Amino acid sequence: MGAIRKIIQWATDPWGQTVPIHIAWFLIWVAAIAGLSFLVIHAIWIRYFARREGFADRVQRELEEHLAAELPERIPRHSLVARLFHWIMAASMFTLLFTAFLPKVGVQFDWVTYHWIAGTVLTASVLFHVIHASFWLDFWAIWPDKADIQDAWKRIRRFFGQSALPPRRFAKYPLENKLYHGAIIATGLSAILTGVFMLFRVRTGILPRNPYLLSDMTWGLMYVLHGLAGVGLIALVMMHVYFAARPEKLAITKSMIFGSMDREFYLEHYDPERWPAEGASVSPHSHSND
Ligand code: HEM
Repeated sequence: MGAIRKIIQWATDPWGQTVPIHIAWFLIWVAAIAGLSFLVIHAIWIRYFARREGFADRVQRELEEHLAAELPERIPRHSLVARLFHWIMAASMFTLLFTAFLPKVGVQFDWVTYHWIAGTVLTASVLFHVIHASFWLDFWAIWPDKADIQDAWKRIRRFFGQSALPPRRFAKYPLENKLYHGAIIATGLSAILTGVFMLFRVRTGILPRNPYLLSDMTWGLMYVLHGLAGVGLIALVMMHVYFAARPEKLAITKSMIFGSMDREFYLEHYDPERWPAEGASVSPHSHSND
């Protein structure tokens, strides 16, 4: 209880009731330091301790070298529409983070207008993304499947030095990306849903201003949830940018700009049965009939 009291800023409403008004802003530093610690520990781990990625199917992969000839040189990964969504969302997310938190750490400017406009862009782009991913993309590609769970178990055992077969190569998205996407859904939707209500508190010209829509207590909790999701996003966005900038992930990052990745990178990291390449002139099984 004491800890909860400290992470929230309280005020007394006109009726003498103690109500939350928003999160305590030191949480900005907690999130930034947590994000930074993750990056430093991960980078040290990779540099000094991690073993090379070991996948099960080396023999299989040699067979696939024959398949390479049938694959296009560049494997399509993200369509133009998916890339446009990604970068619009990224621009609005950075605008939201900077407009929300710079004033709280001492950089004063008239932030609310930029913030709610970026919030509206983010809300619209996420709505678009949900529809696009449900009907045009492979909706299930981003959710953990049975192979992910089996492989996670093998990877945990190998991490602790116990015997286990090496895992398979990945589908389009490794388990870590899927879990990250889940965390973004939870924090992003919390910020969006509360943010849409908070639009009623400011003069937008779109919605009628109505600060009396909810009780002081409910508004307070709304601001607290918005703030918690917001600081959570500081750490999550830091992690995301860090992984995008890591040298071994640059091919994936570039595919979010140019849309495709090298055939060699694809065959090295992805299982053609779990993520079949678009544009291949044969199926991944065809070598067994050779
Ligand atoms: C996703 C990243 C977002 C972050 C990091 C973020 C962060 C914040 C923070 C820290 C505040 C100050 C709250 C307070 O004083 O307690 C705030 C206010 C606000 N946010 Fe966001 N927010 C985000 C998304 C959104 C979205 C998507 C919308 C709209 C759909 C939105 C609309 C608003 C509005 C209208 C306010 C001002 C409320 C007021 O001044 O009374 N925000 N935001």
